[in-house]
Amino acid sequence: MLIINIAKIWGIIDNKQPKTPKQYTPIFQSTPPENCYLLIENGTIKKWGSMKNLTLNNKTKTIDAQHSELMPGFCDSHTHAVFTGSRENELLQKLEGLDYFEIKKRGGGILATAQKMASMKEKDLLDESYHKILNLIKLGTTALEIKSGYGLNKNTELKSLRVINQLKKILPIPIKSTFLALHAKPNLFKTTQEYYNYVVSETLPVVLKQKLADYLDLFCEKKFFKPAYITKLAEIARNNGLKLRVHTNQFNSIGGIKAAINAKAFSIDHLEQLNDKEKHALIKDYSGFCTLLPGVSFYLDLPYAPAKYLIENGLNVNIASDFNPGSCPSGNMGFMFVLACLKYKLTPLQALETTTFNGAKALEIHQTHGSITIGKKANFCLLKPNHTLNKIPYYFSTPFIDKVFINGTLF
Ligand code: NIG
Ligand code: FE
Repeated sequence: MLIINIAKIWGIIDNKQPKTPKQYTPIFQSTPPENCYLLIENGTIKKWGSMKNLTLNNKTKTIDAQHSELMPGFCDSHTHAVFTGSRENELLQKLEGLDYFEIKKRGGGILATAQKMASMKEKDLLDESYHKILNLIKLGTTALEIKSGYGLNKNTELKSLRVINQLKKILPIPIKSTFLALHAKPNLFKTTQEYYNYVVSETLPVVLKQKLADYLDLFCEKKFFKPAYITKLAEIARNNGLKLRVHTNQFNSIGGIKAAINAKAFSIDHLEQLNDKEKHALIKDYSGFCTLLPGVSFYLDLPYAPAKYLIENGLNVNIASDFNPGSCPSGNMGFMFVLACLKYKLTPLQALETTTFNGAKALEIHQTHGSITIGKKANFCLLKPNHTLNKIPYYFSTPFIDKVFINGTLF
């Protein structure tokens, strides 16, 4: 298939660019080629070039981009997209002045979603999640990570993980599955230690044996799980050939950064509350991913993570949605792009890099996805005619994704 009359191709990586350590250098070409065609063969990017040099072959299926811009699809490396129900009642409580912890005390939060998950039939959960993700693909998401963590008991956690693994098979985009082993302590257990023992002795062995997870994860936070659990889970991950993702510093700084750095966590996520000491420790001692979630700051009214500072100091920053019913009921990566510019103060090019290629790196699929590179999967988006990359944050509420291509096929 051939796409003609593309105004600009964003997201090109020609060859492996040497990364200057500890300082930001653009990943994508900052002056993209204009007035182009793009040729796709067997679902991968075969070639692009100037329209001037194109000789048309009648047999090739052709789509006219009508002078719109092209960009790689979003790679969303942190979601909880397998859940049921909604929690708008908590938003009303929040509007009356209650915070996340008070809402939790009154029976809201993660436990409220877990209750709804328990009675859900596996095939209904699959169906609901499948349709949620189809909607995300229409919004430009072309790769995804999904966590369990709303089960909180063996059966429901395994059910969620099986659903994620089913989604891998039936959806056309790459999906990575994460066992969010410690998300919240169910009331049944008196202490977090007791719950940890249950998870490790009951649920985890099945997850490992059935190879249901690509990563492990936990929620390190006051009234949830202490940093010591990062160390414990990291050891389990290491012993079983899995990598660790960590939710930390969303509301409070309680030592999660230090523990995650020491544990060599693959990704440290959230970072809304980051003190100077922690920032310096990340710069000095951390070479994994900082996964930032601007939708959470927006929805819960939290500070925005210091994205620009981290990027300029050479950290691997990627931006994800955290799509979940409690702290970001939106998986729209286009909206995260807008927040990345308007709130993190990233340039549109940096917003593009952090929501696409860096996301692919954080999903370990960057050899095949995340940029416009010959030989990579043809997963990309055409912007609406008259919209441009630079107009995305300017017309902040205007939908800008026109067409989405997955493996070279119009979705
Ligand atoms: O990533 N931080 C912990 N977990 C989710 C929110 C969970 C919820 O409130 O349902 C998050 O923000
Ligand atoms: Fe999360």
